[in-house]
Amino acid sequence: MFTNLSHLLFLQSIILLAPIITVKGQDDFTIEEATIESIQRAFDENKLTSLQLVDFYLHRIENLNPVLRCVLEINPDARVQAEEADRERRINSHHGRSFMHGIPVLLKDSIDTNDKMNTTAGSYALLGSVAGRDAGVVEKLRKVGAVILGKTSLTEWYSFRALFKIPNGWCARGGQAQNPYVAGGDTCGSSSGSAISVAANMVSVSLGSETHGSIICPADYNSVVGFKPTAGLTSRAGVIPISSRQDTIGPMARSVADAVHLLDAIVGFDPRDGEATSEAARFIPDGGYKPFLNEHGIIGKRLGGC
Ligand SMILES: *[C@@H]1O[C@H](CO)[C@@H](O)[C@H](O)[C@H]1NC(C)=O
Repeated sequence: MFTNLSHLLFLQSIILLAPIITVKGQDDFTIEEATIESIQRAFDENKLTSLQLVDFYLHRIENLNPVLRCVLEINPDARVQAEEADRERRINSHHGRSFMHGIPVLLKDSIDTNDKMNTTAGSYALLGSVAGRDAGVVEKLRKVGAVILGKTSLTEWYSFRALFKIPNGWCARGGQAQNPYVAGGDTCGSSSGSAISVAANMVSVSLGSETHGSIICPADYNSVVGFKPTAGLTSRAGVIPISSRQDTIGPMARSVADAVHLLDAIVGFDPRDGEATSEAARFIPDGGYKPFLNEHGIIGKRLGGC
């Protein structure tokens, strides 16, 4: 019965996917599968605004989330933040901006935001809890003008409420998240919603967190890029913890370049996670990680899997 139901849901999701608008610019730009660099180009050429991008994703979430169950909350202020980013771009068109300026980001529901959203690790136990302060990584994202679009589902309490007894991708608030590629397939966890939402074009990029496999495993199972930074490269302040030795916050994206743009925006020293971030910050290259992106880097490489 469950299998039939999940097949039905999956079919429904395919049908829902079909009529989704593909917002086109004057010529070749489409939002679906768009990279951050192509979005920034479309911003610069006045083919797209951050508000249009946010509206596209909100529409997409509205259509797909009843099936995929990967988003827990929408930020009621996301459209206002997008308008603000559009305004900044119009006024300061010649100023250098971060690649993340005006780009919508979803956050795992264990990452604090001091706004109208709850931070609950997927659990009803924390519903109604609004953090008094942004997490360190969220402070950095707001500073560069990224748009906080909402919170993603996860394996409740990172699966630590009852180790191995909670199905991957399940939390009480969101129910069972679905793998967008394999009907009834494992989503892995615990950053399931962050991976699924990126895979299904419900956002540009997202943040997940990992103690032991929680970014790279759902990235693998939902066919996106997941990057697990060395612990301390990104601040853990304001993120529901498991282990101070191992926890790390990292990007999930549709391309390596997008993951790097998000990474560049969130790395660095944070006095609230002082010891680990000051140590790791010594290794951040001048100019960040973007200069190391090499379009042809994979040519001639042999890849193995196990
Ligand atoms: C936060 O949780 C409360 C329930 O306690 C709910 O009424 C509210 O809508 C939630 N906030 C958002 C932004 O969804």
